[in-house]
Amino acid sequence: MSNSGSRASLTRDFERFKRGLPHDFPSHVRDSYRIDLSARYLGQPLPHPIGKGSGQLSLNSGQLETDAEAGLAFAVLKTVIAQDATGDQSMAAWAIHETKMKVERRGAGWTVTWKGRGWDRPFDEYLALVRAGRDLTRDRRLLAVPSVKYHLPRLDEPFRDAEYAHTTRALATAWGDPPLLLEKDFSPTLAGDRLADEKQQILRWLREVPQRIRAHGDVRLAMKLMNARFDDDFQREMMDAARDADALVVFNRLFDAQQGVAYGGPELSDRNLRVLDRPSDRQTVRPSLSGTGNIHSGRMIVEYALRGCSSVQLHTFFQLPLEEYSATDGSRTQRGLHALIFDPRDGLVAVMLEREAAGTLERRAGELHFLDLGLGENH
Ligand SMILES: Cc1cc2nc3c(=O)[nH]c(=O)nc-3n(C[C@H](O)[C@H](O)[C@H](O)COP(=O)(O)O)c2cc1C
Repeated sequence: MSNSGSRASLTRDFERFKRGLPHDFPSHVRDSYRIDLSARYLGQPLPHPIGKGSGQLSLNSGQLETDAEAGLAFAVLKTVIAQDATGDQSMAAWAIHETKMKVERRGAGWTVTWKGRGWDRPFDEYLALVRAGRDLTRDRRLLAVPSVKYHLPRLDEPFRDAEYAHTTRALATAWGDPPLLLEKDFSPTLAGDRLADEKQQILRWLREVPQRIRAHGDVRLAMKLMNARFDDDFQREMMDAARDADALVVFNRLFDAQQGVAYGGPELSDRNLRVLDRPSDRQTVRPSLSGTGNIHSGRMIVEYALRGCSSVQLHTFFQLPLEEYSATDGSRTQRGLHALIFDPRDGLVAVMLEREAAGTLERRAGELHFLDLGLGENH
């Protein structure tokens, strides 16, 4: 089909899929548009790049089931706060409960204001959630990845190894077949904490945490970097310091010190994309990247992909008021995917076709490939 023919069928698909997205939409996209949406997270092949970031939308097995049903590629489970064998948590201040979330407009986008923090129920219940995620992963319905916040010491203190040992081993046992895929969360509220006042302290964490975790299990590790309250150069230094991780999630929300809350919206994606644009002096093979922050369209997915992200993790866009989605039926995850993939102007298919027409993305063996976006000097 010609590029303009593809655009006409995209408008038709967008309309008819408002009532329901075909479960295997990546195959539909491949057959109808000769576009291969295959992506990767933590070395795992994915049918398409879109996953859910850790948070309130991956707290229970019902949410995971709905996401598997919708055809989401992966879901990162809510962050659990590490504990030692006696149940002691050095980061207990992050295990606080809050019920109210407020979805608000911020600039031209949205943010979710919420003052709670990590998992606030017993660790055993988290392990049950991990097992539910493992089952979905094993059945190839949804890749599920646990997320942990472990002890982070001051410069003159040692790491509390007992927390690293107990939590990593318990998660690895719950998961079963190695390797255990894991995200380590360095959260925006941490960026706002006095613990993160010093650059050297943060850089030490990023350098040392991978070995602290891997000492206790066969772990494939993603580190979710915070937006520290320093300049863009330091953000890049953080990426360099974290090069022992297998993947980096770039970058968690911004921290508003005055209001004491984390926030997203356009300021977040502006900063993230700007930092990812900066040249790095690293020569070695670097960790793969997963983008997060204010992703609400296929066009924004492409912006992250052009800067090297082989997958993306969304939270806010899967939490909007129902009337904000064009789709009329289905779960929020399904309605979100409908817009992200099929929107005729800003969806992923439309933007890849647009780049083909502009000569900035080429077919290989007749197909356009999502992962080709990150290959080179495309932007
Ligand atoms: C209410 C809420 C809770 C969150 N909780 C966590 C968390 O526990 N661990 C984590 O790593 N990220 C957490 N996040 C960050 C999201 O996973 C995501 O990376 C971030 O919000 C940026 O993406 P977005 O702009 O699509 O929301 C949370 C975000 C929100 C809005």
